[in-house]
Amino acid sequence: MAKIVVIGSLNMDVVAVTPRIPVAGETIIGLKFFTAPGGKGANQAYAAAKLGGKVGMLGRVGDDDFGRAMRQNLESAGCETSGVRAIAGASGVALIFVAGSGENSIVVVGGANDRLAPEDIARHAAVFDECAVALLQLETPLQTITAAARYAKERGAKVILDPAPAPGHALPQALLQAVDILTPNETEAAILSGLPPARLNAGEAETIGKKLRGLGPATVIMKLGEQGCLLIEQDGSTLIPSPKVTALDTTAAGDVFNAALAVGLSEKMELVEACRFAVRAAALSVTRLGAQSAAPARAEVNAFRAG
Ligand code: RIB
Repeated sequence: MAKIVVIGSLNMDVVAVTPRIPVAGETIIGLKFFTAPGGKGANQAYAAAKLGGKVGMLGRVGDDDFGRAMRQNLESAGCETSGVRAIAGASGVALIFVAGSGENSIVVVGGANDRLAPEDIARHAAVFDECAVALLQLETPLQTITAAARYAKERGAKVILDPAPAPGHALPQALLQAVDILTPNETEAAILSGLPPARLNAGEAETIGKKLRGLGPATVIMKLGEQGCLLIEQDGSTLIPSPKVTALDTTAAGDVFNAALAVGLSEKMELVEACRFAVRAAALSVTRLGAQSAAPARAEVNAFRAG
């Protein structure tokens, strides 16, 4: 089976469910607390494996209980973790508020993720054997992400970059030139094209998507939340609507989308078909609490199509 390699972050999510997101200086009473494995990289790896993909992960954790728990969770879904190196120090953590509306706010403290180095790519070259799709995000050092994208591209893999969290600056040309598919949400797309963060109307989304294509990636897939996604290619754009669901927690919906997109492409689905698969998987994930705990199984996504 063609393999998906995820290069990215592993965080332990420290989550408070609250009636609403507190404002600066405010103390509010929470409703529920839990810790669970997260991190955009690990979420994508876990979700892809749960959807039936053959997945290898490359990243760094600390030599602590969080690191061990995060590795174990990936393995429980069937991910290959030989590329997840434990180093002295603390694992990454994410402090998350989830409000009753389903919205969230997240602060990530990178820990071991900040020390994923370009040399780690060649050190774990075996993880890239039979790699058909490489999945990257922006929670590890940019130099390493660029090295990984180029390494995967040179080996013939399709490179997907999820530009999240949105960088406060333009992405390096060397990275964008190695990316085949860029998958921003609306805010990230606006920021990457030099505009203030904003929700976009259909016309703006298409204009910005075309602008981002001009930076290197042949395809831009803009994630539009409950509206689905906009697939922007050389010969035009296609809106792929999302099924309607009631959102409980939107944390990691974008990660599930990218995971499903990668699984679809590794199974040689057409891009439009892979996007349909991805919006269904992401819609299912927002009906559940947490990141990896919300990732749907393949059978659930297939059944959702039938429903
Ligand atoms: O995309 C959701 C993820 O962002 C969370 O799991 C958290 O760890 C942060 O990385």
